[in-house]
Amino acid sequence: MKPQLQAIPAAPLADALGRPLRDLRISVMETCNYRCPYCMPEGSVDEVALGAKQRLDFTEIAQIAKAFVAQGVRKIRLTGGEPLLRRNLPELVSLLKRIDGLEDLALTTNGSLLAAQAASLREAGLDRITVSVDALEDDLFRRMSGGRGDLSQVLEGIAAAERAGFSPIKINCVVQRGLNECQILPLFEFFRNRGHILRFIEYMDVGSCNGWRSADVVPAAAILARLQSAHELMPLAPTAPGEVAARYGVAGGGEVGFITSVSSPFCGDCNRARLSVDGKLFTCLFASAGFDLKPHLRSSERLSAEISALWRHRSDRYSEIRHAADARKKIEMFFIGG
Ligand code: GTP
Ligand code: 5AD
Ligand code: SF4
Ligand code: SF4
Repeated sequence: MKPQLQAIPAAPLADALGRPLRDLRISVMETCNYRCPYCMPEGSVDEVALGAKQRLDFTEIAQIAKAFVAQGVRKIRLTGGEPLLRRNLPELVSLLKRIDGLEDLALTTNGSLLAAQAASLREAGLDRITVSVDALEDDLFRRMSGGRGDLSQVLEGIAAAERAGFSPIKINCVVQRGLNECQILPLFEFFRNRGHILRFIEYMDVGSCNGWRSADVVPAAAILARLQSAHELMPLAPTAPGEVAARYGVAGGGEVGFITSVSSPFCGDCNRARLSVDGKLFTCLFASAGFDLKPHLRSSERLSAEISALWRHRSDRYSEIRHAADARKKIEMFFIGG
């Protein structure tokens, strides 16, 4: 009698530290219409814009995304620079939405161009939107965007996203000492009253051009203490392994989050890969180089094999070893998305 052949299940993909691959952040535009000093200070980075030819087209992005989903990715987030500067973005959204196995498709934007695009992004199948808002005072908001942002446009963008059916919307605020600490409570109250989820992000030493100093970081614990002076907050369990924000529920309703990359790194379960607009895979937000996937675009099998091999070798944990890390030049955050 012939022995019965049994399929041996493929081992789940894990990196060198045992972390699975779950999230893919795809940058669709390497530049931005803002010049936030903590990200892309005016003057220091203007030469970065690539020509359209160097950018992956939507079919290529979808092909790469499909290969990532085949390797375990369940969430995709579109980022930039500013992703809404990329023409016809809803077309990409509908291509990605068709990928079998993808459970969540989100976008992080500065909101300046959102009012005109929210409805078409929703119709194309986008599940979630996150908008950055660092201040609720016009002058401070403009200053924190490098003199370019208009708060009312961003608030209109958020309102348009609400009307289009995005709910809840997440709001990101980077807090810098002596600059927008005064906005912590006003932002919290404003967005909580509208049913949105505000997340405070510790100012990070991403890239090499923002002149980061640890003295400018306001630790999440200090932000939490300010909120607790006026509200009752209780910690919430993570919604998924590897979630970036530590979440708190607010007595009487609402939720707020803290992204504590500096004071309390979360590399231990980091399951995020990043794809740059020119087709490079970055295995950490603080990486100095990416791996070019473009040469493998002709064969889906080759592409999947390459992604799997790169992920298996991954051992990045920059935020945990920040103080011991060498002073090599890091990729700029606006180039690979946050
Ligand atoms: P969800 O899908 O809702 O969990 O959103 P998210 O928190 O992954 O997305 P978002 O783009 O809003 O992330 C918030 C910010 O957290 C980013 O912009 C970064 O500033 C920071 N962040 C996200 N992922 C990482 C990471 O892997 N490492 C570090 N150090 N910071 C990260
Ligand atoms: N530190 C922390 N967050 C940053 N972001 C951009 N630069 C930094 C930095 N140096 C945030 C943006 C946006 C998200 C994509 O990343 O404000 O919310
Ligand atoms: Fe643009 Fe966002 Fe960077 Fe500001 S933080 S310069 S909005 S990419
Ligand atoms: Fe992941 Fe790198 Fe951020 Fe650590 S520093 S959480 S490894 S992206």
